[in-house]
Amino acid sequence: MLKGNRLSLRAIERDDLPRYVTWLNDPQVTDHLKAYLPFNLDDETDWYEAQRKDHSMQNFAIMINAEHVLIGSIGLMKINHREQNAELGIMIGDKSRWGQGYGREAIELLLPFGFTTLNLHRIYLRVDATHAAAIRCYTRCGFVEEGRLRDAVFRQGRFEDQLIMSLLRPEYLQSNQVAEEQSYKQ
Ligand SMILES: CC(C)(COP(=O)(O)OP(=O)(O)OC[C@H]1O[C@@H](n2cnc3c(N)ncnc32)[C@H](O)[C@@H]1OP(=O)(O)O)[C@@H](O)C(=O)NCCC(=O)NCCS
Repeated sequence: MLKGNRLSLRAIERDDLPRYVTWLNDPQVTDHLKAYLPFNLDDETDWYEAQRKDHSMQNFAIMINAEHVLIGSIGLMKINHREQNAELGIMIGDKSRWGQGYGREAIELLLPFGFTTLNLHRIYLRVDATHAAAIRCYTRCGFVEEGRLRDAVFRQGRFEDQLIMSLLRPEYLQSNQVAEEQSYKQ
């Protein structure tokens, strides 16, 4: 459990899955996600079982502390221990919670887990170049644009660019003034 002021990140439980199915069938939520096909509880259960056994990913449910309510998920995928990097993904599935700083807070809870628990050096992500809310959210968390993949996604009938953004551990430590641990190997 990763606990912050307003949010906690905890393991995803089987009972959470119906909520995720609802969100993953909402076109507004999935507008900038890869999930664009109808998606049922069996699909989500298959994903849940697979990710439990897959050590290259670590997913969390995003909970609001005060209300004990689930609002989304966040995780690190493609965890690569040699290169010390991983890809971040996030979904605030409850639309009524958008724009209230929860995305930023969830990422800020996940970053120390990635950098100081998993000992990662680089956390990166992909985001549609038109997804202003997500780009702003990632930028506020310290991510910088490092590349643009031209016409990399097909969305709403047209090709769009996708951005690669990343945050390196030294940048994260500097901005958070966190002491470097001795365990870390460049
Ligand atoms: C993208 C997402 C994670 C952002 O989370 P959020 O909780 O809505 O964002 P936050 O409230 O933390 O906002 C972070 C920053 O983005 C800004 N922002 C939020 N919505 C915005 C919008 N529609 N346009 C521009 N900026 C926006 C906020 O003002 C804030 O900036 P500030 O700190 O300077 O004020 C969330 O909306 C989401 O999960 N959407 C659905 C799934 C998705 O698209 N995931 C990302 C795929 S790459």
